Order: sequence, then structure tokens, then C-alpha cells
Amino acid sequence: MYYPEELIEEVRQKNDIVDVISGYVGLQKKGSNYMCCCPFHGEKTPSFSVNRSRQIYKCFGCGEGGNVLTFVMKYENCTFPEALKILADKAGVALPQMEYSEEAKRRESRRQRLLAVNKEAATFYYYQLRTQRGAKAQEYLDKRGLSEETKKSFGLGYAPSRGEELLVYLRKKGFTDDLIRDAGLAKTDERRGTTTQFWNRVMYPIQDINHRVIGFGGRIMGDSDSGPKYLNSPETEIFDKSRNLYGMNYARASRSGNIILCEGYMDVISLHQAGFTQAAASLGTAFTPGQAGLIRKYTKDVLLAYDSDGAGVKAALRALRILRDAGMSGKVINMAPYKDPDEFIKNLGQDAFQERIDNAENAFLFEIRMLERDFNMEDPEEKTNFHNQIARRLCEFGEDVERENYLTAVAEKYHIGFDNLRKLVVNTAARTGGYAAAPERPHSGIQSRSRNTPEEKAKKLQRLLLTWLTDYPQLYFKIKAYISPEDFTDALYSRVAERMFEDIEKNRLNPAGIINMFEDEKQQSEAASLFTTKLPELETEAEREKAFRDIVLGVKNNSYEQYLARSGVDITALSKVVEGKKALEELGKMHISFN
Ligand code: GTP
Ligand code: MN
Repeated sequence: MYYPEELIEEVRQKNDIVDVISGYVGLQKKGSNYMCCCPFHGEKTPSFSVNRSRQIYKCFGCGEGGNVLTFVMKYENCTFPEALKILADKAGVALPQMEYSEEAKRRESRRQRLLAVNKEAATFYYYQLRTQRGAKAQEYLDKRGLSEETKKSFGLGYAPSRGEELLVYLRKKGFTDDLIRDAGLAKTDERRGTTTQFWNRVMYPIQDINHRVIGFGGRIMGDSDSGPKYLNSPETEIFDKSRNLYGMNYARASRSGNIILCEGYMDVISLHQAGFTQAAASLGTAFTPGQAGLIRKYTKDVLLAYDSDGAGVKAALRALRILRDAGMSGKVINMAPYKDPDEFIKNLGQDAFQERIDNAENAFLFEIRMLERDFNMEDPEEKTNFHNQIARRLCEFGEDVERENYLTAVAEKYHIGFDNLRKLVVNTAARTGGYAAAPERPHSGIQSRSRNTPEEKAKKLQRLLLTWLTDYPQLYFKIKAYISPEDFTDALYSRVAERMFEDIEKNRLNPAGIINMFEDEKQQSEAASLFTTKLPELETEAEREKAFRDIVLGVKNNSYEQYLARSGVDITALSKVVEGKKALEELGKMHISFN
């Protein structure tokens, strides 16, 4: 559905950002801004700031930012049209009715049919487990300690050895072979015709958060056998492994306030049976940002209960990064001496597991502890390297108080002098371009910024320039002879600059409106970061003037170099280069006054 920009702008203007955000979180007035603890990442001191005159918000801790629409999208975890609807309803603006196209209708009915065939297959497997033929599977599940109630609530089943029976059953129910195949339940090849995906396995139906069966995991009974231990449904139109979690349909309703993320289906089932109904697992593949987004609709606290072996630790470290990028807080449950939650519960029981939950290790401290294993502390050089690594990681905390707290904790734990470590951190920050600035941890984590590339440095200058101009629009007139939208090397930046310069010329600069140019929330956040980069706190007018001139010079210089790198030896290009060089020299001498 396409909405005209004027309509989007009307909805935005009728929803004052301070009023809307106050409806979700408690804001406190501080100077010209409103502040609170950021709802998108865990923090104890407020760094989330809302600005009424610009109608934008920004978190200086995690980098989230945008206008009122962005906020609703992120807070409600909804799409742009959904956020627009929510705010339009609030302000009494009528939106044109959504019309489903023929194509959309067709897609919907196909989804329904795929869901139906999966549901029917789940019923078939469920029933098979409860027949004589399922006795061996029953025995296997009993041996693994599952109660009848647990088997039932997870809809466990059995795929009989003669796979064709499923086909016969489904065909009788009116499903075509094509559909059965597209649902991932069967395969066709020339020699054997259509054969089922699963046979002689215990079946774990995989449900989406609305309890609809979207795929299956099938396990062999026992340890050694031919074929893989688990076989999963392939990805299908309704089975997206990167956006669903096993057990999440129950975990979402748990009142625990957190989610326990495990690796295996069996872990989830065991934990639920032991009363930890907040457990969920990824679907035989690594944890993804999409899954983090799914969890974040319900809670921001995730406890990892990954295997305690090397692969488990590696997977945990990856998952922690993804959680952090999604603005969520991750902790790690220590499973030792057992391999996974299932074994742990069987051996030590639920109280012991609850204790492990209460003592779960903070993500950062876990990462440092794992890092330590790579260094030989007896060797002075390796030890120094370890300390340098710690310092580098500490620089990733954008929030001062948080960084100091971790610094204290790590210094104490690894017997490093506090002052020494602090000095190391400050030096590292100075060398590598400062602490994680606001936008270093983008919310979706799909594309983390690497901080020190020349492109990133150039972009940082461009962001600074646009933020200065947001604060002091009149400066634009002093630099417009030198700076144009083409000097912004990133396409999004360039679009924003173009619009911003136009708006300033017409004396109607409107940062929140500029964000409306983008529908994608990542782009919105990126655009917002252009107006809200943290400016250095400079005291004197002279310092400010110098800083601003250096930024303009830096931006121009970079664009000039890029231009040189791109153009060959054609004559017009050459004259442009000469012009550019002159402009640079002039700029270097220029005095830009703020008044
Ligand atoms: P058991 O306790 O042995 O039943 O398994 P588990 O639930 O503890 O799983 P494990 O930790 O061994 O593996 C974690 C997850 O990885 C499983 O739940 C599966 O989704 C997936 N997995 C494990 N083995 C295989 C395999 O052989 N093939 C595939 N495709 N996936 C597997
Ligand atoms: Mn296991």
C-alpha cells in the first residue's frame, strides 16, 4: 500500500512526539529535552532523549533514533503501515482503505492450504505415535522422561517406517502431491517417484507463535543409526527458519519476564516440563537477528542455555552479539558439568536450574572470560594483548557510567590496576576514534558498522556536518558555495542533505519530516542519526568555529579525493578537480562565524 507523503506528514504532525512517547514510557523534562531510560536497550541512567521542537528522539546509548513513526514501529515491533495506522487512529486521520490485490488474495489462500496440509500431517503423526506401531517411539520418549502431558502439549508424533502411508492419508484428505511437496513433506525423484521426507522418526511439530504447524523436526530413536540424528523440514513459503523459534508459542505467554534460549528441541521440552515455560530454541540453524526481533516483542531479557562444549560457546558468543545489536540484554546460564539443559534438569532438577538462572553470567563478563582462554597469562606479551583486547571491548560501551562499571568489574576480576586499565581504554579510544558513538550499534544488527574504515570516518564527518546544520541552520548560507549534496558519499546521506538544504533555503527545516522520506526503519534510524550525532562539547566560540571549519574541510576533502579516484583523465573532470582544489584552499583559510 502506498501512502502519499502529505498524508504521512499529516499523521506525523498531529501526533506530538513527546505526547506519544509519554504514553509508553515516563519522560522527564531536562532542559529543552525530555529524557528517560532507553526502552530499546537495558540501561540504568537515562540516555534516551526526545526533542519537542525537532520532533525526533535519539538514544545516545544504543543509537536508536527517529521520529514518532519510527518510535511506534520499534516499540510495537510493527511495520511502517501498521505504525501509520496506529497514529492515524489516535489523531483521527482517515487512511484510504487497504485493498487486497488478486495476487495478495492468491498468496493468502496458498498459505492457508500449506498450513492445512501441515496440520493434517501433524495429526497423522500424532495418531501414529499412539498406535501399536508407535510403541518403539513411545518407549524412546518415556525413556527420555517425557510425561504424557508433555508429549501431548508439544504434539509429539511418530512417522512410521512406511512413509507412503502419510501420502495415502493426505491424498485422501484432498491434498495434491504438489502441495504436499511444497509443504516440505515429500520429495519427488525420477527413480522412486514421490517419497516422504520423514520415516521411522519421532516427530516434533514446529509451531509459529500462533500455534500453527509450519514444519517438523524428526529424530531417530536412539543414538547410532544411519542418517542424521535430526532431520528438519526444508524452508518453505510458510517455514522461515530465521524468523521462528521452537516453543515460542508457549514461551511468549510465560510470566517469567525472560526467555531462555536453547539449542535443541529436547532442551525446550525438558525445560517446559520442569516448569520453565519461557524456553525456546532456534530451528537447527544459528540464532538470527530475525529471531531476536521476534523475542523482543515480548521481552528484552534473554538467558542463553547453550551446550557447554566448544561449539556451544561459539554459538553463544554469536548469539550475544546479535542480542546486543538488537538492543537486548543477554546472559549466559552455566550448564557445567552437564552438556545441555535437558541433561542438567535430569541430573540436578529444577531448583538447581533455577539457581543457575539466578546466577547467569552477564554477556560482557562471559565474553571476556571466553577471550581469556585464548591467551597464555604466563607470557607477558600475551597478557598485554589480552588487556588490549579488554580495553578495545570496553570502548564499545557508549554510555560512560556503564563503561566505568564494567571497567571496575573487569579490573578487579583480572587483577589489572584500575588506573592502568582506564588509561589503556582512554588511549584505545583516542586511537580508534572514540567510544562507540550513538549509531555504532544499529538496532537490527544486520549490518554492524565497522568503525575505522576510511569510509566510516568520512561518513562520520558528514553526519557531524548535518547535525551542526540542524543546530545552526544559518551556517548553511556560509558554506553553500563549497558544499553540495554530491559531497555526501553515501546515497542516503546525499538524499537527506539535498532535502535539508532545500528546506533551509525555504526557511522550513523539519528533521522529523525528512525521516518520513524513508519507510524502512533502519533507514529512518540512519537518517535520524544525521541530525543527532553527538557534537563535541566545545566551550568557546573560537573552538566551535574551528571544529566546524575542520568538519566542512574534511567533508570536502574526502569528496574531492573520491572524485579524483573515480575520474580518469578527461578534460572537464580535470577542470573540476582544479576548481575543487581551489575551493579547498579557500575553505582552509575561511573564517566561519556563528553569528
Ligand atoms: P537430543 O537431546 O540428542 O535429542 O538433541 P538436542 O535437542 O539436545 O539437540 P542437539 O543439542 O544435539 O542439537 C541442537 C539442534 O540442532 C537440534 O534440536 C536440531 O534442530 C539440530 N540438529 C542436531 N543434529 C542434527 C542433524 O544431524 N541434522 C540437522 N539438520 N540438524 C540437527
Ligand atoms: Mn540433548
